[in-house]
Amino acid sequence: ALQEQQGRKEKQQHHAVALAFPTSGHVNPVIRFCKLLVKLHGFAVTFVDLRPVPEGSQALPHTSMATPSSAGDEQQSVPLFRRVQIPIAGVSDLFNISFQSLFEKTASVGPDLERLIVSLNDQGRPVTCIVASFNATFTVQSVADKLHIPFVALYPCAASRLLFTHYLSRDDPISLQSVIEAHSPTKDREDVFCRGLPGLPTLFNKDVPHFKHVKDETRDLWELIIRIWKACSAKAHAVAINTVQDLEETTCRALADACDVPIYDVGFWMEDLSDDIAISSWKEDKSCIPWLDQQPNASVLYISFGSLTLLSQAEFHAFIDGVISSKQRFLWVLRPDLVKDIDYSVMVMDIMEKSEGKGLVIEWAPQLQVLAHPSVGGFLTHCGWNSTSESIAFGVPMLCWPYFSDQLLNARYIVDEWKVGFELDTKKEEGSGLKSQEIETAIWAFMEGEEGKIVRKNAQKLKEKASCCLLENGPSYMKLKALVDSLK
Ligand code: UDX
Repeated sequence: ALQEQQGRKEKQQHHAVALAFPTSGHVNPVIRFCKLLVKLHGFAVTFVDLRPVPEGSQALPHTSMATPSSAGDEQQSVPLFRRVQIPIAGVSDLFNISFQSLFEKTASVGPDLERLIVSLNDQGRPVTCIVASFNATFTVQSVADKLHIPFVALYPCAASRLLFTHYLSRDDPISLQSVIEAHSPTKDREDVFCRGLPGLPTLFNKDVPHFKHVKDETRDLWELIIRIWKACSAKAHAVAINTVQDLEETTCRALADACDVPIYDVGFWMEDLSDDIAISSWKEDKSCIPWLDQQPNASVLYISFGSLTLLSQAEFHAFIDGVISSKQRFLWVLRPDLVKDIDYSVMVMDIMEKSEGKGLVIEWAPQLQVLAHPSVGGFLTHCGWNSTSESIAFGVPMLCWPYFSDQLLNARYIVDEWKVGFELDTKKEEGSGLKSQEIETAIWAFMEGEEGKIVRKNAQKLKEKASCCLLENGPSYMKLKALVDSLK
């Protein structure tokens, strides 16, 4: 018992300060990773919530940032997961800011972070490591250097995307120019982009990540991402990736072989549902759960495009017509900012009326609970990595409508590598736009057709395979343990 007590005490000496680039796709995995550190390894975690505040507003003074109580407290009386806030001034709307300025604003909180860590140290809770999402590398690297604290970079996308970035950063065998040109109108989507890259399948032009939909210049954004990756490889203690061995084994092996920084594929999406404390700008509407309770098994199509997608009015109307004409039950997450210049409440009423009781529209879902619900039979998704991995974790097949960035590569894996979904055909001819008829046909085939049955079965099998990795003493569990041990 004495040994156990001593062991627990030693474990509790770990104190991580964690922060994430301020979008749901980055915040959720960082929080889930930290909760694993708390639950499995007795860490104390201070999560820094980088919440955007409008232009002109003052950031909170430093003294109100740290919530821990006085230095004399017993360790046990302080919650192991605590949240403090460092607002990012000048960012009120993620859609009206370029990614580059969001990176800069995020990096600018470095001095606040340093003061927070020093104050936690002074309060007798020494910070032993920093956990930061990949895009926040510039925020933490100099703080970690100056205070001699190791930082773990948490990669919130698939290993395939990181390996792609790695090859690009070497400018061999893929160059930035070729990546930019892959989506030019003169290129055929189905043509081979590159074959024979260790750890990646043959890539077609359509798989190559692009940033067509953001305010930034594609070249500038790629150059920034490459700089982050180089800084991360040079400065991070380790990189933790939210993936598991059985999904991306050869990719992870190739990454480990190619990179100097240690890579841990720890897979941390399988969190306790009752305990999900992710942060988002939208409040989860839990009324959808009793509604789902009333629907037949595997009958509902869950539709969500994550936190960053914007639809044009034409795309939105094509989706409405396609979804309604498919005559399937649906639960649709329609963020109020998903489509510009629409009357949101009129639009919601219109969809609900047209659905004749078969559909429900909400602003933001408790996504894990939705995907875990037996009434959900499929997920029409933009293929963000969190949505993809959560869908795999709950055995839900995917109908893919990748929007930008890594989502194109994720869709490729979903369809061709894991065979747990298929893609909306509407993008076969670049620029031809979404057609409601094709959406209707694809949804019907997905929910009712033979192909749908096949991917549904495959999704169940993949769920079982992937979840084994996360069991006690499974590969992910052991990787996390090795990562924690390396911090000692
Ligand atoms: C961003 C990028 O767009 C994506 O390409 C990258 O892989 C991760 O970062 P995002 O577009 O928001 O992410 O999508 P996704 O990765 O799927 O993350 C969305 C998160 O929000 C998920 O954890 C999901 O569970 C959650 N969510 C989404 C909800 O909780 N409720 C919703 O209604 C919708």
